[in-house]
Amino acid sequence: MEKYHTQKNIPPKAKETQIFKYPTVERNNLIYAWYHPNGEEPHYEVETYEEITDPEWGDEFQKFEYHVDCHIQDMAENAVDAAHFKYVHGVVSYPEFEVRYEDQKRFFVQAANMETPRGVVEGRIIGRSNGPGDNATKFEGICDTLLLGSTTPIEDEKCVIRFSFLQKKVDGKVPEGGVGAAIIADINKQVKEDIPIWENKKFALKPVLCDMDGPIAKFRRQYATFYVDYDEAQRIAALNLK
Ligand SMILES: [Fe+2]
Repeated sequence: MEKYHTQKNIPPKAKETQIFKYPTVERNNLIYAWYHPNGEEPHYEVETYEEITDPEWGDEFQKFEYHVDCHIQDMAENAVDAAHFKYVHGVVSYPEFEVRYEDQKRFFVQAANMETPRGVVEGRIIGRSNGPGDNATKFEGICDTLLLGSTTPIEDEKCVIRFSFLQKKVDGKVPEGGVGAAIIADINKQVKEDIPIWENKKFALKPVLCDMDGPIAKFRRQYATFYVDYDEAQRIAALNLK
């Protein structure tokens, strides 16, 4: 049998053939990699979401993965597209939400009533995004659930979405089955309802927006700042348009 040895002398030229490396950090039980087309170092820190280290919450993710033929921005716009929650996902009431931007971060709070066998329960959805593809969404109401939604563009118009769910313990235990499982199933159902739309919609630079369409223009102004060819002066102007 042929014997393999560990290479002791690596020719300097071989080191030069390294094409690129991604700066990485481990946070939130995930590995985050930074990609910049011009090789710039990360522009901001990765957040640690408090639920991840909170002993009141479970510590093992339930994970799901979706491959979607869509631009990452079109997918992210879903979060501020108020009208679609009722008409695509059939949520009980028309959502009312507040969105706030802080540099590369986006925060939103949305009132969300949930239909249960015992009637409608008032709930809340709290969203935090850090940059174009890192999202933490907490669903409060019946069984508190955290969703880390991590979107990675892998080619033009192709993304991988990874969903990692955690739930808050009830009487010291992570809920199994029941309402907790139903909430996760419902969120996965919603993304499956969105995918055919994301894969077929056309991006309109100047969409015709009605009052109830949600704060799409503000979302786009912030998202524009994630592009490398975005001029710094425009970036500052965009961030002042809150
Ligand atoms: Fe959606």
